[in-house]
Amino acid sequence: MGRIHALPVSVVNRIAAGEVVERPASVVKELLENALDAGPTRIDVALDQGGIGLVRVFDDGCGIDPEDLPLAVSPHATSKLRVAEDLERIETLGFRGEALASVGEVARLVIRSRQAGAEAGAEIEVDNGDRGGVVPCGVAAGTTVEVHQLFAKVPARRAFLRAPATEWSHSAEAFVRTALAHPRVAMTLEHNGRRVHDLPADADWRTRIGALFGTALADRLIEVEGRDGEVRVRGFVGRPDDDMASGRLQHLFVAGRPFRDRSILHAVQEAYRGLLLTGRQPIVFLAFSLPPDAIDVNVHPAKMEVRFRDPSRIYRLVLSTLRTQFMATDLSSRLAPPQAWERGAPAVSPAARTGGFIPFPSSTGGVGVAIPPPAPAPAPWCDGEASIVADGGEMAVQMHDRYLVVESADGIEVIDQHALHERVLYERLREAVATGSLEVQRLLIPETVELSSAEIELVEQHAEALARAGMRVEPFGGGTVIVASKPALAGDAAAAALVREVLGRLAAAATSSEMLVDEILHGLACKAAIKAGDPLSQAEVDALVRDRRRVRDSHHCPHGRPTSLTLSRQELDRQFRRT
Ligand SMILES: Nc1ncnc2c1ncn2[C@@H]1O[C@H](COP(=O)(O)OP(=O)(O)OP(=O)(O)O)[C@@H](O)[C@H]1O
Ligand SMILES: [Mg+2]
Repeated sequence: MGRIHALPVSVVNRIAAGEVVERPASVVKELLENALDAGPTRIDVALDQGGIGLVRVFDDGCGIDPEDLPLAVSPHATSKLRVAEDLERIETLGFRGEALASVGEVARLVIRSRQAGAEAGAEIEVDNGDRGGVVPCGVAAGTTVEVHQLFAKVPARRAFLRAPATEWSHSAEAFVRTALAHPRVAMTLEHNGRRVHDLPADADWRTRIGALFGTALADRLIEVEGRDGEVRVRGFVGRPDDDMASGRLQHLFVAGRPFRDRSILHAVQEAYRGLLLTGRQPIVFLAFSLPPDAIDVNVHPAKMEVRFRDPSRIYRLVLSTLRTQFMATDLSSRLAPPQAWERGAPAVSPAARTGGFIPFPSSTGGVGVAIPPPAPAPAPWCDGEASIVADGGEMAVQMHDRYLVVESADGIEVIDQHALHERVLYERLREAVATGSLEVQRLLIPETVELSSAEIELVEQHAEALARAGMRVEPFGGGTVIVASKPALAGDAAAAALVREVLGRLAAAATSSEMLVDEILHGLACKAAIKAGDPLSQAEVDALVRDRRRVRDSHHCPHGRPTSLTLSRQELDRQFRRT
């Protein structure tokens, strides 16, 4: 006798529910998608205990015909597609006919709905798989779906739920992601009876971002827009000095659908290369628009990912769109006392904060960082420590042997001499290697450097990349290498120090040869650049300040630290109570 048998429907449904409903946040997401597919002008969401106790979503959309209510909660029943070909051109957020059936398997689900123009509404309840009948009820036009006590009767799943505060943060994030994609729909969110978000309908995406994360953040975002044929991307990205420790503020959307995509985020990281410190993450809100047949949304059980027909095209579009915009944008860092932001930013409710959303990121020397009181600068003519030079009419003064202070068009700029020189050297080295015009200085007396066996192995492994960067390094036996040449741009920097710096980087470097050479150039620039503490002659200060006009990305050093900070005249006037 055979051992295979078809599973009862209840078991099939329970298994399907496992894929769709992982935690309260999945319920929030599915109910919001249904509400949005109904064409509403407003959606109200209320949660208790992070959504474990209750998720309630009201929308004033088209409503459900009472006859359809039993089907709405049945598996594989949908109004959103009819034939297989429809899957090729999905324009709704739902399409599987799975969500409500799945939720009804693992919670008590109550749906009340009335179509606009209908005299009465109707209600249906499904209690952990037990479906009740359809009963009339009085209700506002639209649909209210309530999900009570998720997983209360599924102990195995319930055990995997985290504390209500954690579930709340996931649920709130699901709300935020969806709300970001639909600024034209007014949306509210309540948690344990307290209003957390009240988002008016607004066609402008920046306004919705501002309503969720604060206008101070939204106002500083850089708008980007690009297209390649019928593929378009538009959105907002953060300034490098509004970087974050995590990718929490990285949001991608296509056709009103939030999605995750590592390749696109990699393109974003590439665009920010040299503008952010290692490990820091940019803020990104990007929406893609492309023909429905160029994208497959039916690739992930919880609809969190999509597949593009031509992912490399999307990658290139993102990279070039951001890079082009960065070239046209002044990315210099600004000093802004915290009060300015506090005044500009709308209060984000404490509940939203506990939801894990950072109302405004802290930054390298920017937002949220108090300006230290200016150190009493020594009068240049008194102790001779500071040098004053003319920079095309603008004055440059070296202070503390590490900063150059310059008058700029709209304020005062403080330049980090090492960071700027490092960028200047790096850009020159890069350009020279790219154009095959790198000037190499043969050392009259080759320098010997003692290295560890692991470092010697790196020298042997990467001899070619080192040579391309002007460093001829040869094993000499007995734990020693000879440095026969270095790039002329490295100036007086000791060959041994250059080699050690570069090897340190290669040990942790990426694999492609272009990246290796780049890493070597970073190392050379870092070691050869003037240091904090090096006194500069007037001519050197002068040359450095001028050089920054000649290299790209001079606002950041190659590691992503800002090379200068500007204190605007407007801010100075404000601080001195002149305005
Ligand atoms: N808020 C709502 N307003 C109007 N109709 C709704 C609403 N929620 C659900 N429905 C109807 O119930 C049906 C079933 O919803 P369900 O979420 O289970 O499946 P779906 O949205 O079609 O697909 P998916 O499983 O991908 O979400 C929908 O196709 C829709 O016709
Ligand atoms: Mg749905």
